[in-house]
Amino acid sequence: MICTFTLFHSFIFFLYLLISTPSRASLFSGIETGDLEKKGDLFPQILRDEAVARLHELGKVSDASEYLERTFLSPATTRAIDLIRKWMEDAGLRTWVDEMGNVHGRVEGANANTEALLIGSHMDTVIDAGKFDGALGIVSAISALKVMHVNGNLQNLRRPVEVIAFCDEEGVRFQTTFLGSGAIAGILSATTLEIPDKKNVTIKDVLKENSIEATEESLLKLKYDPKSVWGYVELHIEQGPVLEQVGFPLGVVKGIAGQTRLKVTVKGSQGHAGTVPMSMRQDPMVAAAEQIVLMESLCKHPEEYLSYGGHCSDSSTKSLSSSLVCTVGEISTWPSASNVIPGQVTYTVDIRAIDDLGREAVIYDLSNRIYQICDKRSVSCLIEHKHDAGAVICDSELSSQLKSAAYSALKRMEDDIQDEVPILMSGAGHDAMAMSRLTKVAMLFVRCRGGISHSPQEDVLDNDIWAAGLATLSFLENL
Ligand code: GLV
Ligand code: MN
Ligand code: MN
Repeated sequence: MICTFTLFHSFIFFLYLLISTPSRASLFSGIETGDLEKKGDLFPQILRDEAVARLHELGKVSDASEYLERTFLSPATTRAIDLIRKWMEDAGLRTWVDEMGNVHGRVEGANANTEALLIGSHMDTVIDAGKFDGALGIVSAISALKVMHVNGNLQNLRRPVEVIAFCDEEGVRFQTTFLGSGAIAGILSATTLEIPDKKNVTIKDVLKENSIEATEESLLKLKYDPKSVWGYVELHIEQGPVLEQVGFPLGVVKGIAGQTRLKVTVKGSQGHAGTVPMSMRQDPMVAAAEQIVLMESLCKHPEEYLSYGGHCSDSSTKSLSSSLVCTVGEISTWPSASNVIPGQVTYTVDIRAIDDLGREAVIYDLSNRIYQICDKRSVSCLIEHKHDAGAVICDSELSSQLKSAAYSALKRMEDDIQDEVPILMSGAGHDAMAMSRLTKVAMLFVRCRGGISHSPQEDVLDNDIWAAGLATLSFLENL
């Protein structure tokens, strides 16, 4: 089953890229801004200039002085909340901050009793982050609504629209992602509040520091009634190179890869680096090193490793390699001194694939091999699952509405556009994954320079930010 599903997806992905690759080298990158500015009805001051300025302003709201870092309800996040709330109010929205620290801005439109469109992204960042990951989706949604506000059209919206800036998508501090969107979708268990960070401060403690008394009941109350929601739309930078490669500013997301985060703890025998002979050591560092290198080989060539109870043929496991990615991004050792054989090494593993069964097969096989290495080296191993999210397929109707909105925005910016808006898969995780448990979801990707993300090098052309805002506006006008 892994097999056909994955092959199917790989095929669809490449087919989409093939049919949707524009015939020209690029769109907008070569256009003089002056030509576009003559199109005054495209609201460049709000959708581009102000949006760009806001992204730079938000990009400076950081807990670190040398780089961008905003984690769950940190001091910088509370400043970001105030800023985002101010921008929402400036767009004519009614605002509030919920008991998880999500910021909401809502307008009821012409039919207050119909299901609402939820639109948003996350305001937290990774460590040493770029300015656009998450922030672009929030700012573009606010900008598009501001255009409607300025033109007196907010009350003509056919359904309520609510922008949500989610408090935690990256999961940097607690390793469990989607704290904000998960609460709204109602998929967080009560025990989530007890999850500790590295200093043993729990999510509940952090909420309390921010004057929020979180309880199981308050968590449950955050869940939206699915009957009150029409759908969720998220605009996000692509974080990969496809749109740049095909020369198109916007793309529609077909689906999002599933992901698992593991924490592996390897314990050995702490000792003196100068006195314990090599043959008598139980060194968790070298065990971890062997495991990490093994993980790389397995994820590069799953067909050479996976058995998964014989469920998969060679050709099927081979197809897993088209989307499977595995990363060790964090490693720590105790006591961490050059003249001490460590007593303990802990590292994280992030595993993603389009195919959920394939991902499970990788985790099963990798875990077995990690334990085997620990046995061989006489150290102990503990593997904890910190996060699991299944792959998500976006709603086809909502996606085609987004596709039309993107097309019409690009057409308004450049009359002679003839190409199809590309459709692509997302390897990155998004709040849309959690929101898909509540309602239908769709996503629009925006081209980013060099496909770089989770890095201060992250960049998006000003005109692409404009295109994103215009596409959002067009989507809202045609709800
Ligand atoms: C979030 O950016 C993730 O995909 O880890
Ligand atoms: Mn991210
Ligand atoms: Mn993101």
